[in-house]
Amino acid sequence: MVAQGSWGKYSPPKPSPAQYYTLVTVLIAYSLLMGRQAGLQPTGEWRLFSWHPFLMTCGMVGFAGLGAVTKKLGGYANTKTHGILGWLSLFCSFGGIYCIYRNKENNGYLHLSSPHAMVGTGVVISCVGLGLAGSIFLHPDFGMDKQNKTIRFAHKTASRLTLMLAWVTAFLGLFGIAAENTLLLAAYGLPLVALVPFVLM
Ligand code: HEM
Repeated sequence: MVAQGSWGKYSPPKPSPAQYYTLVTVLIAYSLLMGRQAGLQPTGEWRLFSWHPFLMTCGMVGFAGLGAVTKKLGGYANTKTHGILGWLSLFCSFGGIYCIYRNKENNGYLHLSSPHAMVGTGVVISCVGLGLAGSIFLHPDFGMDKQNKTIRFAHKTASRLTLMLAWVTAFLGLFGIAAENTLLLAAYGLPLVALVPFVLM
């Protein structure tokens, strides 16, 4: 229960070790399994395109989710690990974007031709901005304004909203090529919905 007028000071309790390691296991298992399943759509064979869903799921759900839950633990070391996981998330995602870019070039397809492609590009740009701002202003060693509560709140809120949008974007990407596969869509989408309160809130 939060006292009236104290929302700015509210922060959810940090996860217990058991909760933390459960989330870590779920995030890693989900990314590898569902990223692979998404990559096999719709033909069932692994090809250049397949790396796009796989790397985007590992980057935006796996590494980014691990970064978010690790930050919840608080403290110097966890904050630095959070930053490293955030950048790993981005490098993994850059790989995923490169694969879909090359795949489109190889096949003569148009770029940025769908809502998924356009929102996805916005998500990746937003992640780059959040990573740069976090590193420049909030790094625990050399951040220019690491105690600034407004910047910390803006970084946290914008990051959570960006990742929620990323997860919706990933689901829409899968929906675009496997709309009739209800079981796969449920297996990909429902865990993400279940993870939101534990990872992104
Ligand atoms: C947050 C995760 C994701 C992001 C940020 C993202 C981003 C993008 C971007 C930027 C493009 C356009 C590339 C270009 O036009 O050259 C694209 C294309 C595509 N993505 Fe994703 N993607 C994500 C996850 C997924 C997933 C999980 C799937 C599942 C299969 C998927 C399927 C596709 C497909 C089929 C295309 C080509 C058609 C189109 O442009 O819409 N994506 N994605």
